[in-house]
Amino acid sequence: MLLDRLGRPLRDLRVSVTDRCNLRCTYCMPASVFGPDYAFLPRTELLSFEEIERLARLFVELGVRKLRITGGEPLLRRDLPDLIARLTCLPGVEDVALTTNGLLLPRLAADLRAAGMERVTVSLDSLDPEVFGRMNGLGTHPQKVLDGIEAALRAGLKVKVNTVVQRGVNDTGLRELWLALREGAVVRFIEFMDVGNHNGWNMDAVVPSREVLARLSADGTGAEFRPVDANYRGEVAARHVGEGGHEVGLISSVTAPFCGDCSRARLSAVGVLYTCLFAGTGTDLREPLRAGASDDEMRSLISGIWQGRHDRYSEERGEVTSARKVEMSHIGG
Ligand code: GTP
Ligand code: 5AD
Ligand code: SF4
Ligand code: SF4
Repeated sequence: MLLDRLGRPLRDLRVSVTDRCNLRCTYCMPASVFGPDYAFLPRTELLSFEEIERLARLFVELGVRKLRITGGEPLLRRDLPDLIARLTCLPGVEDVALTTNGLLLPRLAADLRAAGMERVTVSLDSLDPEVFGRMNGLGTHPQKVLDGIEAALRAGLKVKVNTVVQRGVNDTGLRELWLALREGAVVRFIEFMDVGNHNGWNMDAVVPSREVLARLSADGTGAEFRPVDANYRGEVAARHVGEGGHEVGLISSVTAPFCGDCSRARLSAVGVLYTCLFAGTGTDLREPLRAGASDDEMRSLISGIWQGRHDRYSEERGEVTSARKVEMSHIGG
């Protein structure tokens, strides 16, 4: 088994398929930076579906079992269900998932399901139109995302919902959001993180997960929730179950980092491999790929990168300086 310098196996590959998005979330792609003149990647720069499929196959041969498609907004990539069909067919792949803002699911959910996808994760930060409109930067109404979730469920996809919590922004109304969605979806609340270089992160804006849990319960203590076992080793969300057996997930990357079990590699839309969400630099896989490298050469390049890996940014946060990091829209969270 391929292990990094901290003994962690390579199990997950997260693949960004575009740097574009149809929202401008303030913590990810603030409209002030990603404005009308922002130069997004030209199409020729992006890995083709053939290239993604080949790299995914090589990663699977090296131990990856789970693929997650991200963006930007991955459903903006033309013909995405065709890529999903290629990936779900790869021998050895146990799980192909997608992280999306949900806006295009009414159009695409059935095609994704038909391509063999079984689940999606939809980002939704608030049910309050004003709060969500402000957070997504474009005034987009939360009903549009709810329609996407509905479409996914109708198509037979399992749904998780990701909610990034920011103090003073969307930290009221968390219980309402959970109550409204918990029948159809597993909601996970994410501590606001210092990803990228533009989101003005500071510790005061982080609502620790234990406070989120307290806010979720009717009596404001969190006592009704009990932790339950992870679905798999290294699961990012700490699962809890409340009254009536409804699940909630807490992603505590700031107050309880999970680097010790981190088996995730990230591939950007242009084929740069990053070994941490907070990496400043990565390794270009597209160049050797397009220069005709053999499977053996590519596998040994990837193995070498993983074997040299020692990232544990979330555990070191505070010790490290504010070096320039890769943008969230390039590696999809
Ligand atoms: P499941 O397969 O459903 O368990 O998905 P997941 O939770 O691994 O993936 P998802 O993209 O839904 O991740 C949820 C959020 O957790 C991401 O959007 C990030 O904000 C955060 N996250 C995921 N992986 C990492 C990681 O490796 N490091 C840190 N710091 N945060 C992560
Ligand atoms: N902190 C925490 N989560 C974030 N996401 C994007 N930016 C941040 C951040 N700064 C989440 C999105 C989405 C996933 C890809 O990552 O809401 O669910
Ligand atoms: Fe788009 Fe997701 Fe980033 Fe929001 S968080 S701007 S939906 S990629
Ligand atoms: Fe993995 Fe880096 Fe996140 Fe730690 S901070 S869990 S090493 S991606």
